[in-house]
Formats: sequence, C-alpha cells, structure tokens
Amino acid sequence: MRLIGSLLIFSLVLSFVLGGSAQNCGSGVVCGERDTGHGTDGGELGKIISREMFEDLLPYRNDVRCPARGFYTYDAFIEAAKAFPAFGNSGNETMRKREIAAFFAQTGDETTGGWPDAPGGEYAWGYCYIRQVSRPASDYCYRYCPCPLPGQYYGRGPIQLTWNCNYLRCGEALGVDLLNNPDLLATDPVLSFKSAIWFWMTAQPPKPSCHEVIIDEWKPSAIEVNAGRLPGYGLTTNIINGGIECGQGGNDAVRNRIGFFTTFCGKFGIQPGDNLDCYNQRPYGLNLMAQSM
Ligand SMILES: *[C@@H]1O[C@H](CO)[C@@H](O)[C@H](O)[C@H]1NC(C)=O
Repeated sequence: MRLIGSLLIFSLVLSFVLGGSAQNCGSGVVCGERDTGHGTDGGELGKIISREMFEDLLPYRNDVRCPARGFYTYDAFIEAAKAFPAFGNSGNETMRKREIAAFFAQTGDETTGGWPDAPGGEYAWGYCYIRQVSRPASDYCYRYCPCPLPGQYYGRGPIQLTWNCNYLRCGEALGVDLLNNPDLLATDPVLSFKSAIWFWMTAQPPKPSCHEVIIDEWKPSAIEVNAGRLPGYGLTTNIINGGIECGQGGNDAVRNRIGFFTTFCGKFGIQPGDNLDCYNQRPYGLNLMAQSM
C-alpha cells in the first residue's frame, strides 16, 4: 500500500486559477450516486455505518476533481462486506464503530486527495483516487509469486492493494484471477471494496490482521512488546505500511493517518483508544512487508 499523496494540489490551484467551480458533495448532497432509499438498506452493518454516515466520512469523493468520482458507492461497500461477516460485527457497538472508523480512516488516507487547506478540511477527501498515481519505477514483482504482468501490480482500490503476491492471494480468496486481471480492482467497485476488506481481515504472519488488532482481540507477545508493537490504531498503520512509516519517530504520513482516525471517531462519537501512532514501533521488516504488502 502506498500513500498516493495530495497531487491534487496542483490541479486544484489550476482549477481555482481557471475559475473552475468545485462540486460540493457535502451536507448530505449525494453526487453521482442514487440515494433513492430503496434497494439495500445496509443490513446489520448499516446500523453501524448508515448511508448518511458514509457520505459524511467521504463527502468529496465524487468531486469533479477526483478521478474516483462515481466509483465508490455505499451499496458496493455493503455488498462487499457481506463476504466478511465478522467485519464491523465484533464486540459491542463501540468496538464495531471503532473498526469501521479505523477502516475508513486508513483507506481514506490511502486514497486521499486532501491537503491542509482543502474545502471541508484535509480529512474530507478520502476515496478521491482509485489507481495509485505516483508510481515508483518498480515492476511490483515479488520473486516468490508468479508475475505475469510486470509493472501492473501498483496500488488500486480503497487499500491500494500492491504487489503481485497480494493480487495473487487476494484473488484466490475472492475467487477471481486478479493476477491476470489486476485492473478489475479499478473497474468493479464491489471487488475493489472486497480487496480492501480482505486485506483488513486477513492476517499475513507474522503480522496480525488489522481486524483483530482494532477490536482488541490481538494480545502482543513479549517479542511484540519489545518491538513497541502494542494494541491500537498505530499497529494497523504498521501492518499496512510500517516499512515506510513506522519506527522512525514522528512523521507526517503517520500524523495524517491519525488525523483521519480522530476526525472519523469524532463523527462516530467514540474514543480512538491508546497507541495511535507507530513512531516507536519496529516495522515488520521490509522483506516481509514486500511479501505481504
Ligand atoms: C465495549 O467493549 C469494550 C471492550 O470489551 C469495553 O471496554 C467497553 O466498556 C464496552 N463498552 C460498552 C458501552 O459496553
């Protein structure tokens, strides 16, 4: 997973200079998505995150400046989540809300188009991107998995699934040949959400899953404690992108992830819990990360 960054700044400045008017999808206005009140109502998960809350967390994702406009819908999210019954469905209501807040915070950060003075605030621009925009010169081929399409396993979807091994494993889990069709994660919104929830729910040893960490099911061993890896949101950052962001003291990448989370917890009316950062956590290791990223 990689932070695809706020390259929107340039185009936004440009659009202001050119006098382009921003489409504001906040305040309950739904852009590019029908909100007719029929079809799925969200089921059990809908009691934790309603259609309105989804809009409130991601109000600018359908902005004209966002490449993802029209792609990420509430219905696709709810449909994808059905494949993972424990997702947002473990523990009491506070725990469930915390998991959903953390999931949307991390995925919102992975796909953000926000910047410090952005309309609606820096953390209102999650789900602005589908495909990773800033791509390092990498073939994204990790040698322990087949790599039929070198260069094609860059980040896609809410969690910005990256690397051939992840496309392989995720595809196997979802019953879809993602290794040969990686762009399905950028064209099929249900599959795209499923890839993110799959990553969230699936432990890739020695890493625990984000799910078990955020619902406080994971208990650190002595080795984990010595590595500074304590339960909390910070460990989910370590799981997602620790090799790049963790164990190097304070940094903006981690601060932005925390900013999304505390903002979203505020909207859910819950506390974010302890150990929000991973500044002093040893990452799980670059090789391991590449394997499981
Ligand atoms: C929810 O569960 C957590 C962990 O088991 C507990 O600490 C908390 O007090 C519970 N909250 C409520 C409102 O019951």
